[in-house]
Amino acid sequence: MRKKWSLLHVTALIFITQVTWAGDVKTEKVTLVGERIVEFIPEKYDVARTPSLILSNEPVKQGEIPADWTLIPRFTTVDGKANASLDVPAGTSLYGGGEVTGPLLRNGQKTKMWNTDNGMYRVDGGARLYQTHPWVLGVRPDGTAFGVLFDSFCKAELVTNSDKIEFKTEGAPFRTYIIDRESPQAVLKGLAELTGTISMPPRWAIGYHQSRFSYVPEARVKDIADTFRKKKIPCDVIWFDINYMDEFRVFTINDKDFPDPKRMNNYLHDQGFHSVFMIDPGVKVDENYFVYKTGKEQDVFVRDIYRNEFHGKVWPGDCAFPDFTRPETRSWWAGLYKDFMANGIDGIWNDMNEPSVFDGPGGSMPESNIHLGGGNLPTGNHLMYHNAYGRLMVEASRDGMMAANPDKRPFLLSRSNIIGGQRYAAMWTGDNEATYEHMKLSVPMSITLGLSGQPFNGPDIGGFAGNTTSDLWGNWLGFGAFFPFSRGHASCDTNNKEPWAFGKELEKESRMALERRYRLIPYLYTAFYAAHTDGQPIMAPVFFADPKDQTLRSEEQAFMLGTDILVIPAFAKNPSLPKGIWEELSLIKGDTKGKYQAKLKVRGGAIVPVGKVIQNVNENSFDPLTLVVCLDKDGKAEGSLYWDKGDGWEFQKGNYKQLTFKAELAGAHNLIVKMTDSKGEEQFDCGMIKVEVLHNGRVYKSSGDMAKGITVNL
Ligand code: GLC
Repeated sequence: MRKKWSLLHVTALIFITQVTWAGDVKTEKVTLVGERIVEFIPEKYDVARTPSLILSNEPVKQGEIPADWTLIPRFTTVDGKANASLDVPAGTSLYGGGEVTGPLLRNGQKTKMWNTDNGMYRVDGGARLYQTHPWVLGVRPDGTAFGVLFDSFCKAELVTNSDKIEFKTEGAPFRTYIIDRESPQAVLKGLAELTGTISMPPRWAIGYHQSRFSYVPEARVKDIADTFRKKKIPCDVIWFDINYMDEFRVFTINDKDFPDPKRMNNYLHDQGFHSVFMIDPGVKVDENYFVYKTGKEQDVFVRDIYRNEFHGKVWPGDCAFPDFTRPETRSWWAGLYKDFMANGIDGIWNDMNEPSVFDGPGGSMPESNIHLGGGNLPTGNHLMYHNAYGRLMVEASRDGMMAANPDKRPFLLSRSNIIGGQRYAAMWTGDNEATYEHMKLSVPMSITLGLSGQPFNGPDIGGFAGNTTSDLWGNWLGFGAFFPFSRGHASCDTNNKEPWAFGKELEKESRMALERRYRLIPYLYTAFYAAHTDGQPIMAPVFFADPKDQTLRSEEQAFMLGTDILVIPAFAKNPSLPKGIWEELSLIKGDTKGKYQAKLKVRGGAIVPVGKVIQNVNENSFDPLTLVVCLDKDGKAEGSLYWDKGDGWEFQKGNYKQLTFKAELAGAHNLIVKMTDSKGEEQFDCGMIKVEVLHNGRVYKSSGDMAKGITVNL
């Protein structure tokens, strides 16, 4: 029999709804911890249950909360699981959430936070991916902005509806940080104040990288390197995927393919290349293998619910997995890098660290596995630590690299991580596909990561899985040359995907795209410095050029490189572009007509430092240094160049140069370009200085002495 609803029922329903809902948790403490950064701590928050691996430092009180503060999160618990939510001011555009598919504009999206090896992911949103970034950036209609950081790496879902942001975890109460500042750039600076920034990479890491699963044997590697040099296609790095190992045992090199790895790395170094080698977390179960043996002796591996060493399958078959929550494990792991890197290895690639376990539930290890913890980390199950696995691994790997080569800047790439983990490793967006959908998606994906604290990122250019056509390659590299991390990579069963593998025309287009990147190395290096000091994205959304312009808020084909160059990929159809003065930039003869080359535009008011075409960053970018000037409506422009030795730590002691340039009209037709400031002790000679003024579609050239000022007749 169907019951009729009585008033009593309705009241009861409302009451019940409220009771389930009313898992409201009191906010126990509200503290100002930075310039317009407020920390909210819920009742029952216990640092021992929710340790932070996200923040770079424990926040401290810095005065009183501003009287005009409006953004207050609400904490709730549902079935003992902690949530937080924030009402969103009307008309706000939402961004962030880290590694996501779907659109750049995140209003109305759900992001699952459970690091997952999910190759060939769906492009339309909802895919679980390799990283966790519980962070949302909101940009109000007037261009002011706020950010919300949930300090938890627990399994969770991030819901970004236009009226409400919700972070629903499967774990214990957590702190929430809200930054409310005058612009999205200022909010990202605030995020960096909380979570740290990327460390300054060695300059070679911002060159082009060539990878494949895998280049073996040594002769093939040399052939790849030689071909780059013979064909004069710029490249800095050759990558070594798993097949270099001895039956996939990490920290070994098989001597059949690489009888003398030192010799090979010397050969690469002599040609101006650096090498990056892959290291996965899974350690082959083999009593005669030193990594497994020492690991077992020191009891470093993750245990199952019965406290036995957990085994799961990855590339080498049965593997044990280091329990990176333990300080002892991290130092054991770090210690493995010294001898390995002594083979002349320059950089490290940590993969499969979600962790990916082929025969485990959901492609990982059981949630009931046990991590012992230590230091600030309590003992906990895998459900608690899953998302932190890659983050703790890269902390240990970086420590090992630093100990192995203390005078070099480590370059470490990781597939898995959490927000804050940018302090240890750069990232790439995992196993994408050689399709136009994945190519187009690679733009909003990379921008979103830059808006989520990870500026040093990029996709597998050309697409990892499946064969790549020449048209797809040309289109992808045409703008892919401007990703912060620019690497071509391919899966084991695909066609060759080097810049010359697609025929003569594409070889020419590829060379041109990479020559354009290499001319921009001085500008790019300066942008990396801004990322390192202020957490600014290197690849930014177009709306960063004008946060008040609402028509730019969902533009995800075109993007900004640094603050002054607009990149419009060849595939872009009717992109929304910022208003004002933007002059087209040509870096290589014929590039503005190249079928696949992205269109580049310089912002009115900017001075962009540009170097020569070089084949790798060991070569001198300068002599000449070209200052590309684009005047604003008042006839002025300004720009800077950051430069240092490109490796090592001397820059931290003041051995760097930061030059500021200004251009101003003196009379209607005379422009004077001058150096107005010079910081740092580093002596470097940029040789001849040329000036190119882009003005009303024409280029005006001059050269001369910066100290006196260079005059250009317009
Ligand atoms: C994973 C990585 C991929 C790599 C492969 C073999 O799929 O994401 O980049 O080539 O493993 O190591």
